[in-house]
Amino acid sequence: PLIEQLSGMQQLERQLCRKLGLRQCYVVPGDSDLQFQVVDAMGKVLNNKLKDLLPVGTNVIAVMGGSTMAEVAKQLTADLSVDRQLTFVPARGGVGERIDIQANNISAQMALRTNSLHRALYVPEHVSEDTYRPLLAEPSVRQVVDLIRHSNAAIHSIGEAVKMAERRAMPPEVIAQLQAEHAVGEAFGYFFNEEGAIVHRIPRIGLQLEDLATMDCVVAVAGGASKAKAITAYVKIAPPQTCLITDEGAARMILN
Ligand code: F6P
Repeated sequence: PLIEQLSGMQQLERQLCRKLGLRQCYVVPGDSDLQFQVVDAMGKVLNNKLKDLLPVGTNVIAVMGGSTMAEVAKQLTADLSVDRQLTFVPARGGVGERIDIQANNISAQMALRTNSLHRALYVPEHVSEDTYRPLLAEPSVRQVVDLIRHSNAAIHSIGEAVKMAERRAMPPEVIAQLQAEHAVGEAFGYFFNEEGAIVHRIPRIGLQLEDLATMDCVVAVAGGASKAKAITAYVKIAPPQTCLITDEGAARMILN
C-alpha cells in the first residue's frame, strides 16, 4: 500500500503542476487541517528540497512567519550546512504576528537546527506607519534590511486572507475592505483575490514580491483543504521557480 500511496501522490503532483503552471509540486499524504503531523511530513520534504535547490557556498535565506513555518522549522537538519554557509533572516518585519510564530523566531530556529547563522530584524510588530519609517534609518535595521533584499532564497507559507487579517488584529475597516474586494489569500503581507490581483498590502519593511524573481530557491509550504483557494490564487503572482510543498487535502481540493 505504501508504494501505491507514493505513486498516487506522484500522479497528484503532476496534475497539480499542470493545473497551477508550476514546475515543481510535492504532495504529502493526508490533510494538515485534520492531522497536524502532516505538517511535519511537509517539513521533511522541505529539508530535502533545500538540499537540491540551495547552491553550494554562501546563502541568505529569508523566511516568513506563521504556524506552518514554525512547525517545518523543526524538520531542518544540520547536513544542509555541510557545503554551505547559511544565514537565515526574517523576510519581513512587523506583520503583527504572535511572538511564537514571528519570522524572527522562525529564522532563529532554522539557524539552530541547521547549525548556521541568523540575523534578527528588531522592529516592533504593532506600531504605526509613522513610527515604523524612521526605524529604517537606523544602521542596525538598515543592515538587516539590505541583507534581506539581497537574499538568494525564500521559504514562506500562504494563508487565507480574512483569517490572517483577523489573526493579526488588523483594523475592522481593513477587514471589511478585504471582504469587499474578495480577497482569498495572503503571502508576504500581500493580500490577493481569486484572479491573483493584489488588493491590499501591509506596507512594512523587508522582502518585496519582486525580490523573489531573481532568487535561486523559493519554496512555498502550505497545506490543508482550507488553503486551496489561497494557494490557487497565489501561484498567479508567484515567481515561476516557486517550488510548492503541499498535502493531499489541499491538492485534491485544488484539482476539483
Ligand atoms: O504572517 C506570516 C505568514 O507567513 C503569512 O504570510 C501567511 O499567510 C501565514 O503566515 C500562514 O500562516 P499559517 O502557517 O499559520 O497558516
